[in-house]
Amino acid sequence: MEKLHVGLGKNSYDIMIGENFFEEFPKYIGEVYTGKKLFVITDSNVHEIYEEKYKEMFKGFNYSIFVLQAGEKHKHIGIMPSIYSAMVNEGLTRKDMVVAFGGGVVGDIAGFAAASYMRGIGFIQIPTTIVSQVDSSVGGKVGVDLPEGKNLVGAFHQPKLVLIDNYFLNTLTDRYFYDGFGEIVKYGCIYDKNFFDRLVEIVEKVGVSQDDENYIQKLREHLMKYVNELVYRSCEIKKEVVEKDEKESNLRMILNFGHTIGHAIEQFTNYEKYSHGEAISAGMVDITKIGEKKGFTKEGEAVKIAKLLKALNLPTEIEYPKDEIAKIMKRDKKSTNDGINFVILKEIGEVEIMKIGAEEIFE
Ligand SMILES: NC(=O)c1ccc[n+]([C@@H]2O[C@H](COP(=O)([O-])OP(=O)(O)OC[C@H]3O[C@@H](n4cnc5c(N)ncnc54)[C@H](O)[C@@H]3O)[C@@H](O)[C@H]2O)c1
Ligand SMILES: [Zn+2]
Repeated sequence: MEKLHVGLGKNSYDIMIGENFFEEFPKYIGEVYTGKKLFVITDSNVHEIYEEKYKEMFKGFNYSIFVLQAGEKHKHIGIMPSIYSAMVNEGLTRKDMVVAFGGGVVGDIAGFAAASYMRGIGFIQIPTTIVSQVDSSVGGKVGVDLPEGKNLVGAFHQPKLVLIDNYFLNTLTDRYFYDGFGEIVKYGCIYDKNFFDRLVEIVEKVGVSQDDENYIQKLREHLMKYVNELVYRSCEIKKEVVEKDEKESNLRMILNFGHTIGHAIEQFTNYEKYSHGEAISAGMVDITKIGEKKGFTKEGEAVKIAKLLKALNLPTEIEYPKDEIAKIMKRDKKSTNDGINFVILKEIGEVEIMKIGAEEIFE
């Protein structure tokens, strides 16, 4: 078991990372919470698989379970009243604790419920997808979508504890398993060339060719041997960035590498065609190609990034109409009149924030 400490003054917390330690959750929860009542929010897929485990995961607590319908579609502001009502009906007070047990969708909704219920109560993250383990469960960004756009309503509300057990990853579909590697590759690109190289080295050691019909399965089994190491370093990078810039005034923006184009692709395709990891995978490659073309990025980096992403079963080329994507990027909440803050790679491991117009980026 490994521990990371996120140092944010009175909002500090620990991230516990391990393998098959869910039976020890009650002990760790007890270290941050002296009460007995837990309001656990999960989704229909996760609930179906892990219902039997609750009695071990939350042993000694008086827990109630709120099951959301699975999927981004349901990360919607309209879901909030039913959650608040259930919290009231359970008699949840400001001293009680919300638990998010699921992927990023559950984490964002449960965190937002905790941030807003009675002006804020504590919550614990138990992320069950790679995206949520390496990204959404750390850093305290919580929120829901509006019909007008994703994540438009939210708060900064740090969890009291993050419990990452890679045991839960075994039941992910292949698609969602690989999806999370988009964010892991991102951390190497924006912050740590050695980590990028380490990931390349691990993937190359799989021992079967990409054309082999068992490649996807074999690589997954192989990656599971290293997943704690990869999740640990990813969380460590995210923690370091968040510690320096909790509220995203500057440095935290680097976490958006590949995301401006990626989000626009997701939106353009109605969040149906590509998962988040797939869209940002293509987004990272595109922005790096653009960086090379404009002379901001060392030549050859886009090819290296694309090669790694492709080996991880992620798309590196998504066709889209540039004018439509530019329009969507301009509407993004992070866009201002004088342009958009694009995260541009100088070389793998180092990025710079550059303000560029939405149309100009594709010129
Ligand atoms: N707050 C942040 O900083 C932040 C960062 C990154 C992403 N996000 C948000 O996270 C969301 C994406 O997260 P995600 O990729 O985890 O999506 P998700 O929560 O929708 O999970 C993906 C799918 O996997 C299923 N699932 C989850 N855990 C499982 C398990 N252990 N076994 C089997 N199936 C399982 C879910 O039911 C769902 O169908 C987006 O809404 C995004 O905006 C937030
Ligand atoms: Zn992301």
